Amino acid sequence: MLPFLKVGFAVLVFAGVSGSQQPLAPSMTPPPQSAPPASRPGGPSVEGAMKIMDRALETLQWQIADVSKREDNLALVNEMERGCVIAKGAPLPPGVLDRAGGPEDRAKLQRAYYEGMFGMLKKLVALEEAIQSGDGAVIKASLQDVLTARDEGHKRFEPPEDAPFGFR
Ligand code: HEM
Repeated sequence: MLPFLKVGFAVLVFAGVSGSQQPLAPSMTPPPQSAPPASRPGGPSVEGAMKIMDRALETLQWQIADVSKREDNLALVNEMERGCVIAKGAPLPPGVLDRAGGPEDRAKLQRAYYEGMFGMLKKLVALEEAIQSGDGAVIKASLQDVLTARDEGHKRFEPPEDAPFGFR
């Protein structure tokens, strides 16, 4: 066989074996962005994520003015941000969603909740920056901003009467 024919044959065989005709990543279609997160057993819950934020906040409030605790305070804000990101992606509990009417209103409520948590995340990042700056007045104002947003969020989403500890 002529040398150039040999090479051409080898290329054809290699292409067939390596499956180069197949799409590279057929399963990488992203989920639709408009869909609210589906509730699934074992998935992230609003309750669990809020508890993460609440635990960290409890300590943070006590020692926020203590400059010797700067690293510890940054770690606590980081923990709050972690809880916040989990909460932001979690489906609202059925007890809250059921207060909305049909599927459209439920999606609207879930969207409003997402926006509230997104806003909270930005405030927590601002608090982190404030702690980094070491400016006591900025830190105090930033923490107050977080507390106000928390209270507004809870007013908006009306906790049930028997809500456990910490729901202020
Ligand atoms: C510093 C920020 C926040 C803290 C520390 C916090 C803390 C808490 C706590 C302790 C609970 C009760 C959890 C339990 O069932 O044991 C809770 C529940 C909840 N929070 Fe927050 N929260 C914060 C911000 C927000 C914001 C901004 C929103 C709304 C955008 C929000 C919406 C809710 C909702 C919907 C529930 C569940 C209510 C229910 O189960 O009926 N929270 N939160």
